[in-house]
Amino acid sequence: MTNQYHTRRDFLKKMARTGSVATLAASPWLNAFSENIAIGKNPSDRVRLAVIGTGSRGKQLLRHLFRIAKTTNMEICALCDVYQPHLDMAINMCNKNHLKVKSYLNYEDLISKEKPDGVIITTPLHQHAHLTIDCLKAGIHVFCEKAMARTLEETKAMYDAHRETGRILQVGHQRVFNPVYLEGMKRIHNGELGQIGQIRAYWHRNNDWRRKVPDDTEKMERFINWRLYKKYSAGLLTELMSHQIQVANWALQKTPVSVTGTGSIVFWKDGREVEDNIALIYSYDNGVQFIYDSMISNKKYGLEEQVLGHKGTIEFETNRYYSETPPPAPGILQLLNDIESGFFEKVNIGGASWIPETAVKYQGEPIVEETDFYDSALQLEGFIQYIRKGQAPEKLILEGYNASIWTLLGEIAIDTGEKVTLPEEYKV
Ligand SMILES: NC(=O)c1ccc[n+]([C@@H]2O[C@H](COP(=O)([O-])OP(=O)(O)OC[C@H]3O[C@@H](n4cnc5c(N)ncnc54)[C@H](O)[C@@H]3O)[C@@H](O)[C@H]2O)c1
Repeated sequence: MTNQYHTRRDFLKKMARTGSVATLAASPWLNAFSENIAIGKNPSDRVRLAVIGTGSRGKQLLRHLFRIAKTTNMEICALCDVYQPHLDMAINMCNKNHLKVKSYLNYEDLISKEKPDGVIITTPLHQHAHLTIDCLKAGIHVFCEKAMARTLEETKAMYDAHRETGRILQVGHQRVFNPVYLEGMKRIHNGELGQIGQIRAYWHRNNDWRRKVPDDTEKMERFINWRLYKKYSAGLLTELMSHQIQVANWALQKTPVSVTGTGSIVFWKDGREVEDNIALIYSYDNGVQFIYDSMISNKKYGLEEQVLGHKGTIEFETNRYYSETPPPAPGILQLLNDIESGFFEKVNIGGASWIPETAVKYQGEPIVEETDFYDSALQLEGFIQYIRKGQAPEKLILEGYNASIWTLLGEIAIDTGEKVTLPEEYKV
């Protein structure tokens, strides 16, 4: 979200100047606590974090951690990855930032030797549960990337471990900390959009979703391209949709009552097991539907979450709010719009007043003016502050839990072709 900056460097300079601490302080997720959480200045006040899984996302989050280390009085104490080349890349990044960090090929060694205050788990999905549970049981707070786990049982076990140990379990849904979403949600929850009738979301890409594999063994293919195989991932569901079902639940302040869905491999018939094309409908108890689709062989429509109310619409990804009754365009503009859209040439075919119901051409307005933040950094700042406090809002943890559970129920709906509801044992 850098549109007002000419270059990425300008943007980073501005970030370094202002930091995002002020943005974060305004976040309702931190205001949830009655007293302010002091950051402190001394080394003894420092929060010590370790990163487990230094692949693509692990390195992205490391970059954010470098940027926020000073302002949050945090130290990256250790890194862990089972794959030496990825670990080496992350160590190099730390060296370039003049940071000396310990590195481990085994997370158990890291836990016992470093005893960090918190860990950031950025491993493939099927590795989340046992790592998270072991860390929580060792008394360490956990930030785990979305989706929570590969199975419903593991997801519940992670949540139970959080409850039993009293340690934080924050799930990597960065939109939760994004000021565009926070402001949009405030308006939705205040009733500004009126009655929500539908939520629609989609995520479309046009690429094979493959990573380069260093040799041609099946073992390495599955290790690197884990998101293409069902044993490790539910593909588009856990990797992409999990973010957007979280947004829908958050907007409606509810979880669904059922889901139906379908999916197939239409284009990328290259040995992968996960669908390249999915469509689902989640229903809520007030009759609202969340209508979802994702595909990776056309990117024209990109990604969006659209909340459709009888008074207005919000499109989060593009930071837009549209009133259902926008102020009228000045006369001449209206005339030009009508000519351009061919309004005067339309023939009455469906009765005297037939007008084509094509989309309204109205640009709407931004939800927030200032977009100079990284939501992925804000969520990490939140995690650090929660560690200081020793707790995070339970509502936040539940956002992650419910999104993960309903993502996996969506997979069951696709696999069985049935309408799926929430089994009793996963209700929390
Ligand atoms: N929130 C977001 O926007 C976002 C974006 C991308 C990825 N992610 C999530 O981040 C996670 C990682 O995705 P990625 O693209 O970085 O994958 P990746 O394959 O690039 O990286 C995963 C790393 O974990 C390592 N690993 C595997 N098992 C391990 C273990 N037991 N202990 C330590 N390290 C282990 C692998 O060697 C690899 O380096 C996934 O859960 C993904 O959904 C989130």
